[in-house]
Amino acid sequence: MDIKGKAAIVTGGGTGIGAAIAERLCSAGVRVMIAGRREHRLESTTESIRKKNLEISYRPTDLRDAKACIALVQSTIDVYGSVDILVNNAGVLCLGRTIEDYSADDWDQTFAVNLRAAFLLCTAVLPVMKSKKNGFILMISSDSGIHYFPDEVIYGLTKHGMNDLVQYILAEYKQYNIHSVALCPGLTATEMGLSLNPAHRENVLEAETIADWAVWVITQPDKINVAKPILISPMYDPGIN
Ligand SMILES: NC(=O)c1ccc[n+]([C@@H]2O[C@H](COP(=O)([O-])OP(=O)(O)OC[C@H]3O[C@@H](n4cnc5c(N)ncnc54)[C@H](OP(=O)(O)O)[C@@H]3O)[C@@H](O)[C@H]2O)c1
Repeated sequence: MDIKGKAAIVTGGGTGIGAAIAERLCSAGVRVMIAGRREHRLESTTESIRKKNLEISYRPTDLRDAKACIALVQSTIDVYGSVDILVNNAGVLCLGRTIEDYSADDWDQTFAVNLRAAFLLCTAVLPVMKSKKNGFILMISSDSGIHYFPDEVIYGLTKHGMNDLVQYILAEYKQYNIHSVALCPGLTATEMGLSLNPAHRENVLEAETIADWAVWVITQPDKINVAKPILISPMYDPGIN
């Protein structure tokens, strides 16, 4: 997609990988709306990007609220006139227990952010993209969406679900020139990544690396379909890949 002048939503864009993707997209001439719960994080990311004379807005949003997901899309259309790119990046962890020790609430809270919100945002942007015969939906999934790591069944299922959602989008909307790809990072140096096993810290990826991949994949020519999830791992990740 030729992205200059396009409008994008990046969920979880106030921090970590989402903030890095927002910065890279803005630098490439995209007008970006970032969303998350913590207004001060959205505000500081917005300020630092605006200092470079780039176009970015934010909307405080709790993605567990279905109406708030739809309102996020509508407010982006109000501000920028359209939504051409959706980056479903916001996510929460749910790790460290074996299957029998998780609860219904663990399932509901994790699915609400990682998969249900991603789906609801798709329902709101797809008609817009379909009418323009152009669009890109990027999922920031995880290596947990490729592998089946022990002690993270709920988080892993949300990420496997994101990867499968890509396939359903392609099956139904590829004919309208709507692209969708899942990027599946391994351990990345963000608040989330560094909250995990400190022993892995030396080998982690940088958020900016994932952002570079994001922009690279979104800017592929329209005739190219990246048909499988892209797994990006640290070269020396103990015990996996
Ligand atoms: N870091 C890693 O090692 C790693 C590896 C693989 C995949 N990932 C994936 O990468 C994505 C980004 O994570 P990150 O590493 O950049 O960590 P992060 O900085 O903690 O980002 C998570 C983002 O999700 C937002 N979020 C969480 N719950 C939300 C809610 N209810 N409503 C709206 N926004 C919500 C957070 O904002 P608020 O808290 O302000 O709402 C935050 O901006 C996640 O989907 C994660 O699963 C990360």
